[in-house]
Amino acid sequence: MAVSIRNLSEPIGAEATGVDLSRPVDAETADRLRRAFVDRALLVIRDQTLDAPRFLAATRLFGAPVRQHLEKFNLPDCPDVATISNQEKTKEGKINVRGVSWHTDHSFQPEPPKATALFAVALPSTGGDTDWAHMGAAYDALPDDLRAKVDRLEAVHAYTESRMPPSVAERIAAGEDDASDGVVHPLIRTHPENGRRTIYLNPLRVRRFRGMTPETCADLIERLVEHSTRPEFVYTHRWRPGDMVIWDNRSCIHKANTDYDFKELRLLYRIILAGDRPH
Ligand SMILES: [Fe+2]
Repeated sequence: MAVSIRNLSEPIGAEATGVDLSRPVDAETADRLRRAFVDRALLVIRDQTLDAPRFLAATRLFGAPVRQHLEKFNLPDCPDVATISNQEKTKEGKINVRGVSWHTDHSFQPEPPKATALFAVALPSTGGDTDWAHMGAAYDALPDDLRAKVDRLEAVHAYTESRMPPSVAERIAAGEDDASDGVVHPLIRTHPENGRRTIYLNPLRVRRFRGMTPETCADLIERLVEHSTRPEFVYTHRWRPGDMVIWDNRSCIHKANTDYDFKELRLLYRIILAGDRPH
């Protein structure tokens, strides 16, 4: 049976059926899947039966898996595959669900991952959807004044929950505007495979935009998130058993939802694929 691919929503998302990634796929099928992933920013591949090693092999169709930095979540027998679970606890014993506000993965790295893939291992009976927003469509729809403001901005990304620590304000006030406190990426990047301009924003990790005060940065981040996550740019995925989902971190931001019964296990495998420096 040949793979069938259809769009899930406008402007983001495609769904592939009729393909079994637990076995090698032919070159034409691999090309069609890769094209859908780049063109649609998000690809859902239905009805897969994958253990961790097979999931890892399947993602190699799209790129090179890399080790994830929070090692405690990596599977001991297959360490390039990590788990995302609703049973994770903080040191204080509280449930710790990651990724519940809009973000793109690992933007604090000099070469952030081009893609992230998830495979549904266990799902709650209802809820637990994931949202993606298309940052290319959001860029195209920016009002002129906002586009003029963001086109040449550079953002400092850092791995910290604290977006605007006072020390940064002090440093900016003192005229220090280097990037020693993080990694600098352009706010507007050009996709290396399809040439599309996208807003490369990570509200969780952007500390500031170079040359702007912390207050102005916070306002701008808020305005951009509000604009980019309007319903017309967003696809909400309702997970089904057997779903493998892969998305393009260069083209979209995402978030998890916690609207389900936490007594039910929600467990996904996650793999990230190597990317290059945003331009
Ligand atoms: Fe994420």
